[in-house]
Amino acid sequence: MADLSSQGIGRSVANAAAHAVQGVKGALGVGMTAKRQQLNEIAVQDNANTTLTTSSGVPITTVDDSLKAGERGPTLIEDFQFRDRMAHFDRERIPERVVHARGSAAHGYFQVYESLSDLTRAAPFQDPSKKTPVFVRLSTVQGSKGSADTVRDVRGFATKFYTDEGNWDLVGNNIPVFFIQDAVKFPDLVHALKPEPHNEIPQGQTAHDNFWDFVSLLPESTHMLMWIMSDRTIPRSFRMINGFGVHTFRLVNANGVSRFVKFHWRPVLGVHSFIWDEALKTAGRDPDYLRRDLWMSIEMGDFPEWELGIQVIEESEADKLPFDILDATKYIPEEIVPIRYIGKMTLNRNPDEFFPETEQAVFHPGHLIPGIDVSEDPLLQGRLFSYTDTAFHRVGTNFNELPINRPVCPVHNHQRGGFMRHTIVKGQANYHPNSLGGGCPALASASNGYVHYPAPVSGRKTSNRPGSFSDHFSQARMFYNSMTETEKGHILGAFSFELSKVSTIGIRQRMVDVLNKVDHDLAVKLADNLGVKAPETSEVESSTKVLGVAQSPALSIIKSNKYDTIRGRMVGIYIMPGYDSTVSELMGALTAAGAVPLTLSAKGGPVPDASGSSTTTPSFTFSASSSTQFDALFIPGGRKSVDALLENVPALVQIAEGFKHLKAIAAVNEGVEVVQRLNLMVKTAEDNSVTVDYGVITAKGVGTGMNGKLGKAAGMAAGAVSGATSKASIQPGGNAGGTSEWITKFIETIAKHKVWDREELASKIVI
Ligand code: HEM
Repeated sequence: MADLSSQGIGRSVANAAAHAVQGVKGALGVGMTAKRQQLNEIAVQDNANTTLTTSSGVPITTVDDSLKAGERGPTLIEDFQFRDRMAHFDRERIPERVVHARGSAAHGYFQVYESLSDLTRAAPFQDPSKKTPVFVRLSTVQGSKGSADTVRDVRGFATKFYTDEGNWDLVGNNIPVFFIQDAVKFPDLVHALKPEPHNEIPQGQTAHDNFWDFVSLLPESTHMLMWIMSDRTIPRSFRMINGFGVHTFRLVNANGVSRFVKFHWRPVLGVHSFIWDEALKTAGRDPDYLRRDLWMSIEMGDFPEWELGIQVIEESEADKLPFDILDATKYIPEEIVPIRYIGKMTLNRNPDEFFPETEQAVFHPGHLIPGIDVSEDPLLQGRLFSYTDTAFHRVGTNFNELPINRPVCPVHNHQRGGFMRHTIVKGQANYHPNSLGGGCPALASASNGYVHYPAPVSGRKTSNRPGSFSDHFSQARMFYNSMTETEKGHILGAFSFELSKVSTIGIRQRMVDVLNKVDHDLAVKLADNLGVKAPETSEVESSTKVLGVAQSPALSIIKSNKYDTIRGRMVGIYIMPGYDSTVSELMGALTAAGAVPLTLSAKGGPVPDASGSSTTTPSFTFSASSSTQFDALFIPGGRKSVDALLENVPALVQIAEGFKHLKAIAAVNEGVEVVQRLNLMVKTAEDNSVTVDYGVITAKGVGTGMNGKLGKAAGMAAGAVSGATSKASIQPGGNAGGTSEWITKFIETIAKHKVWDREELASKIVI
């Protein structure tokens, strides 16, 4: 790998993988969905036979000098080639999205497990053999287009299904509830959370007075606040987030029977997050971290996958729920209505060009297809207006004609004109009814076309909010009570961080008093951290009740994860000249398990191993990388290598930082001395046994031909853990099946993602 900068390495790893993958794609036609074919028709690929032209097709002979009156000057206005280039350039930007401006997207497909025709006639849910093309954009909310990826924020999860009956957009978030109950409050919410208007500070975060002023005065936001102060808002990867439709929608079957539904995306890799300090540092060190992670995984053929789940509620049962199903600040616990997983989405192709695809994509919760309808949720109702309205402004009247937004099924209607109209409709009649056009296009029949579900409507016009929307604290408490002590600690830490950035003491106090209605202990500890008055008595009892269940383990990331795969995890391997054979042994095992081993060294050139017979060109240098890039760290043995590492402060700082960020760390043979040198206060291997303490795996006498005992030949390990996505393959088993015990233990620890019981110990390490 030639490119050694932390930015460039991602690109070079991705590019190498991309070339391999593209060969396969071309050969097999992988990803050749109807949408892919449609996009290919307008795609342009330059090659040796193409000539540079103006935008009106005139061949250009020079782009280096404008036309001038004499060599020294002035430039002539008649230089139409100059004007063509410059005038287009001057208009290259369009307004960024008013929210969710920063995002990345990918193409893929969705496939249902079995027909859901009893529930809905929606096209993607009928035939398990059918692949419906999708385009998915994952985003942050607060920051502008160029802001950092790993800031604390909700993540948008917008999916466009290109179905045979038109586009369906499921425009969700990675949190199942929202700040507000009625769309009319949305402009206030966004004004409050965006950078403050007088100085445009801060970028990409809600840690400022305006936001906390607003939400502390808006009790309905409390439940959402608990979620955004949890680890959900600092995800390790876009591939590791949930997606939620948030609102209640309707599924309608061919007989016109409607049921309420909530949509859930569940990542196959599990839900995983950063440690807060890690997220902060990554925002500075690699602001494109999540974007690159998504891009690279697809280029390397490790396709992100999510299962789609539904919670279905008979309309007649909805009134029996202990809250209003139309209230978007409420979540239906799985204990009350289980989630049925109905299909899987795979993202298998990156966009060819960011602007025409990702930037010009328009998602809209009102892009519905027959079989899916909206509910009366007043937040959703307002969104139905907002998204088309903003699309007309941001992208233009004919946004639906742009390739990325165009349906794969035919479009026929009487819409004409407007900026940037593409379609040329033949014929004279652009109205309905008509006889001059033979009455065309014909109206669809009720069984073919979209029929709005005839939901009954009653009552007087009013701007009052229903009483059934008035409980703002019970589910906030349920959420908090469902957390592990570790997660509760993180929520307290997040509130403390954010509110300590609020300079108005009254706002801090008000927020503490609000939280006293959720959990007294939380409010008291937060008050202490913020230097405001702690509430004397709890207000929980008078503010909350149990709405169905007191706790829902599914809400806790730690309790609900499966921990059965290390696919896609990055493992940093610290090598210096003279490293031992455990490097190749581990790399084989990690690769076979779907993880990505990446080597680091002091310099960029090839690093020889202890035998002198082979070399590794490191993926990174210590100075151009950081521990925050990796999920786990490995220090191999080899006397010379370890002696050099013990002198290398940037490498040592990285390893200590990885320890503080609760990452799995393995050190073997002489490499164990690095752990000892760092005073990490963990037990390390003293003899030829494997020691695991606080997620630090140490072993001596391992590897081929090193200080002792056997070890395993490099290739064998690879075979032993291949397919480590299944549970059995990551279970401990000594040397059974050819995998060295220390590797098995390391892989198991990586699969847990973080070593939570190290947290207190790690907080004592000074770096
Ligand atoms: C009344 C409440 C809301 C309003 C008025 C609103 C409005 C908007 C607007 C104007 C955009 C920018 C769209 C564009 O320029 O293309 C947007 C983007 C987005 N909104 Fe909302 N939003 C609301 C609530 C929500 C909720 C509850 C969710 C999640 C369920 C959500 C998810 C998203 C997502 C994912 C995007 C980014 C779409 C993309 O990737 O292009 N919004 N929203």
